[in-house]
Amino acid sequence: MNVVVIGSGYVGLVTGCCLAEAGNTVVCVDHDAQKVAALSAYRVPFHEPQLAGILEAQLKTGRLTFERSIKEAMTKADVVFLAVGTPSNTDGSANLDNLLGCANELAKTICGDCIIVIKSTVPVGTGDRIEQIFNKSGHLRAAQFKIGVVSNPEFLAEGRAVQDFRHPDRIVIGSNDSYSFSILARLYAPFDSDGLRLVLMDRRSAEFAKYACNSMLAARISMINELSILAGALGADISSICQVLKGDPRIGGSYLHPGIGYGGSCLPKDLSALIDLAQNVGEPAYMLRSIQMVNTCQKQRLLQAVRNHFNGHLSAKNIAIWGLSFKPDTDDVRAAPSLSLIRSLLDEGAVVKAYDPVAQSSAQVELGRLEVEFGESALAVCEEADALVVMTEWEEFKAPDWNALAQTMRGKIVFDARALYTTATLQQYGLQHYRLGQIKLPKGRIDDGLSSVGEVSEVSAKTEKMQRCNRDKQFAFPGLFIGINDVAAAILV
Ligand SMILES: NC(=O)c1ccc[n+]([C@@H]2O[C@H](COP(=O)([O-])OP(=O)(O)OC[C@H]3O[C@@H](n4cnc5c(N)ncnc54)[C@H](O)[C@@H]3O)[C@@H](O)[C@H]2O)c1
Repeated sequence: MNVVVIGSGYVGLVTGCCLAEAGNTVVCVDHDAQKVAALSAYRVPFHEPQLAGILEAQLKTGRLTFERSIKEAMTKADVVFLAVGTPSNTDGSANLDNLLGCANELAKTICGDCIIVIKSTVPVGTGDRIEQIFNKSGHLRAAQFKIGVVSNPEFLAEGRAVQDFRHPDRIVIGSNDSYSFSILARLYAPFDSDGLRLVLMDRRSAEFAKYACNSMLAARISMINELSILAGALGADISSICQVLKGDPRIGGSYLHPGIGYGGSCLPKDLSALIDLAQNVGEPAYMLRSIQMVNTCQKQRLLQAVRNHFNGHLSAKNIAIWGLSFKPDTDDVRAAPSLSLIRSLLDEGAVVKAYDPVAQSSAQVELGRLEVEFGESALAVCEEADALVVMTEWEEFKAPDWNALAQTMRGKIVFDARALYTTATLQQYGLQHYRLGQIKLPKGRIDDGLSSVGEVSEVSAKTEKMQRCNRDKQFAFPGLFIGINDVAAAILV
């Protein structure tokens, strides 16, 4: 088939490359001239395992080409994928400017029967809006082309996007007409070898399905994080508890690793967009707001722990950061917890040196003029560091040379935001270990050594304050919902 993919980012480029690999003729469009030039010259402008090899191979077959203009790409198109970004507006709603802009342009340039496939994550009802744009187009009305508008949300995960696209768990197709179903089923047939992957539904349900999945994932992350904080405060060990949870087939084992909370280009924005949609239909979405609140608190807790360690004075403290991307195997730093931590540390006068195996350039762009020194290696940024904060669970951070690290650092504390290490390991090298949800015994009990930060009484006082704060505020809704940042601040001050 002749396919056009508009938007050559993480989703669009993987889609275009994999569809070309499956034998289709694909034109990928992006309005970013530099990106188009790089891609045409075999360079993937972001980090995604396996993608560069497919790009090169498919460019060489001639089945894959890149264009800047939608008009140029549309000379022959059976199927057009829309895979442009749908970032958050300041009120949390999804910004559809790019997507609707493309639809408007398509309405002027479609030159035959065509299926328009919305791959971007979009609010329920966006397919209807795009259909209206086409219905109102004088050009399309005159030409009487058969146009289908389909929702086909993407479920790939950065870092394993190629693998996910080639072997999907499910391929969701939301359409209100059987013609579009049949064309897309044919296009996706090579990716559905057992014939079990296609999930067909109406368009609005497909649009909602993507938000449903991402909010479920976010819920698990916030749930395990909250459980880990409670477990620590009650003197229980979350890693043992995780084993019990994972052993229950009703719960399953994925997304049960406590840590700093979710970030990235999808979960935060999709949760905000779903809350906005809920608000539009007069639903309070208590659960979704709580998920966000827990996530925000988790990040604040880490910052507070670093502050506490230095008695509230971060000025001129050398802080080393390991990991900038929001998760391993990608250079994506959009809404990465590392960047908000770095901004706060710099605000409070700390000196930040950071290392990431692949995300240093993208972090540099995102941080702009902020003064962060980027190092050549994990060890290099720890030289004379007063503390190390591990923000991303890259493989190379999992078993560092502790001996060298302990000798290089001036301070002897590791803030382990991803629960990668055991306190016992670090203690062997004279290093203190802090992790979120670390065991802290209630006030009056003696620390048994599992918690090496020695902040038991301080934490108990904070826990009491937190309980008071929660008692006062948790029944404030319905009607009035407290801002997430207000609650996070109230809990952690
Ligand atoms: N990244 C993921 O892991 C992931 C997973 C599933 C779904 N999604 C969704 O897919 C969509 C795309 O995400 P992404 O991460 O690939 O975004 P991205 O920012 O990496 O890529 C978007 C691309 O679209 C291009 N673009 C924007 N407006 C354009 C226009 N008018 N004409 C041509 N090109 C244009 C940009 O230059 C950019 O290259 C989003 O809605 C996202 O929520 C992303």
